[in-house]
Amino acid sequence: MNGKTPHIVQYQGSKRKLAPQILEYMPKTFHRLIEPFSGMAAITIAAAMEHRANCYVINDLNRPLVGILKEAIEKPVQLVTEYRKVWNEQFSYGEKHVEHFYVVRDRFNSGQETPANLLYLIARCVKGAVRYGGNGKFNQSPDKRRHGTNPDTLEQNVSTISSLLKGKTRYFALDYHDMIEMACPGDLVYLDPPYQGVTNVRDKRYFSGVPFDEFSEAIKTLNEKQVDYLISYDGVCGGKEYGEDLPESLGCKKIMLNAGLSSQATLLGKKSTTFEALYISESLIPLLYSAPKQLSFWEAMA
Ligand SMILES: C[S@@+](CC[C@H](N)C(=O)[O-])C[C@H]1O[C@@H](n2cnc3c(N)ncnc32)[C@H](O)[C@@H]1O
Repeated sequence: MNGKTPHIVQYQGSKRKLAPQILEYMPKTFHRLIEPFSGMAAITIAAAMEHRANCYVINDLNRPLVGILKEAIEKPVQLVTEYRKVWNEQFSYGEKHVEHFYVVRDRFNSGQETPANLLYLIARCVKGAVRYGGNGKFNQSPDKRRHGTNPDTLEQNVSTISSLLKGKTRYFALDYHDMIEMACPGDLVYLDPPYQGVTNVRDKRYFSGVPFDEFSEAIKTLNEKQVDYLISYDGVCGGKEYGEDLPESLGCKKIMLNAGLSSQATLLGKKSTTFEALYISESLIPLLYSAPKQLSFWEAMA
């Protein structure tokens, strides 16, 4: 992959940095890529950059989030025009531009869930981390130091992304089980559920913790249907392991990908590398012989 994969906006949990490593474990070409937990769809975009699939399915339980992706791909000019309008408004607040974030947040929470409003909130909020409170309202705070993605940068990125995916993509805002049901042989399913430690149980509309047993069952269904898949499922940082391993009975191979230095640990003056687990379906294991050798976690720590 040449250069950086374009993205729409920073998004917590995005696999943009890891995308080149993850793509090493995909077939060179296949019929359809399904992302049941798409977030900002970093893997779909990276795969489209390399023309890996004929068509793509984007799904996330967060409907307004899928709305951003759909408009970015299908109506990029409209998204950029509307975002530019929202983004420019903040400058009429002078030094109090942070107040504008709360104005847009109120608009969004009172029903104006437009792609441009949510995009601005994600672009300006702390760590691009979308959070909803107990009442189902977006409640993340603004990052006071930044104005959010410049509309000119957005325009360039969205134009590239749209040219790659327009006319080849379907969009859903359903629970991931519906995507498992849709999958059939010839598809590649890439699953990136929320971290096991993360449970936003309150508002089912957007985030649910994905229970471990239920998730394992869903993967078993993919095995039975003979569908290829890759799963990002938790990791290791500073020797501390997050999350439970998927059951061996699924027959997957677990690989630890090097996600670089942990920014959290660096802030605390420590140097800890983060490793993220990637599970490869049994059917894809032969590809391992053509992929570069990954350092195992223990080799990398030595
Ligand atoms: C770790 S993020 C995915 C990040 C994504 N790979 C990227 O590169 O941006 C997990 C996503 O799963 C979504 N999600 C949570 N529970 C879900 C469910 N039950 N079905 C579908 N999506 C769900 C969340 O809204 C969130 O966007």
